[in-house]
Amino acid sequence: MKDFLSLKDLSVEWWKQLLHVSAEVKQRPSYFRQMLGGKSSVLLFEKSSLRTRLTFELGMKQLGGDAVFLDYRESRLGGRESITDVARNLERWFDCIVARTFSHEAVVQLAEQASIPVINGLSDAEHPCQALADVFTLQEKWGEVQGKTLAFIGDGNNVCTSLIHAAALSGMSLVAVTPGSHQPYPEAAQDFESLSTSATASYRWTESVDGLQGADAVYTDTWVSMGQEEETRERVRALQSYQVTPELMASTGKDPYFMHCLPAHRNQEVTDSVMDSSQSLVYEQAENRLHVQKALLLLLLAPKEVERYLRLEKFASWKN
Ligand code: CP
Ligand code: NVA
Repeated sequence: MKDFLSLKDLSVEWWKQLLHVSAEVKQRPSYFRQMLGGKSSVLLFEKSSLRTRLTFELGMKQLGGDAVFLDYRESRLGGRESITDVARNLERWFDCIVARTFSHEAVVQLAEQASIPVINGLSDAEHPCQALADVFTLQEKWGEVQGKTLAFIGDGNNVCTSLIHAAALSGMSLVAVTPGSHQPYPEAAQDFESLSTSATASYRWTESVDGLQGADAVYTDTWVSMGQEEETRERVRALQSYQVTPELMASTGKDPYFMHCLPAHRNQEVTDSVMDSSQSLVYEQAENRLHVQKALLLLLLAPKEVERYLRLEKFASWKN
């Protein structure tokens, strides 16, 4: 695999390997300290970021490499010069591009034109790094995520899309609870089917908050994503009955985890009482962005070294 643009491109084997390496990186960070020595990534961002930017920068440094932030917030990719020219310059200096773009097509084009790996650090369509951290977080909690049900409630946006793919790859069911005007992208059910690793896992969309019944985890995201600020009034009106409250959490009939990719608009899509409750995993999700993205960088930039490490680790566990 050269790039990481969409979870739709992944095989189940690669997905499992990525989660496995993530656990290794988190458990034994010192083993990986020099694995990206001499390598560098550029972080080309058209939008603001706290988590994605910092975890990629820190991740590269913790692996012995370096990262440079390229602020594109004041301009658009393809504006000052063509995406092809940007890609052909960056590949001369860097080993990897992490891009946060408005248009998904822009990150795809960058990957087509650059000879180095391109990672999607959030586009208007998908947020694969986030969904990776989310499944990793749930796996830490449950051990096995297969057979569990994740409910996404709110705006069927980029985060929802990547969660649909991640759930399918992991053998989880996903129910999307959104107003008709903000439902997930049209091919969601089809993509879930073709990625799904479990005969019993299912995907469904419903407008009714009753869809939360039976959910093991409840996930929401902002109602107004970056770039949609002008639609704020319409969106808040359409989504207000989808706020995650303690009552809504109780309506699952379980004691579900609460998840959010952050940044959260407290007391809009979720109340403080849920965000700050003992069921909330939001800061664990944020922490895990660091570990899983280090694993991703390693598998894209140093696959042979990772393979060697895994062979030694297997040998060591067999010996013991
Ligand atoms: N969740 C997430 O991607 O956060 P940032 O926008 O701060 O990077
Ligand atoms: N849906 C949000 C996610 C931010 C991490 C956005 O696109 O702004």
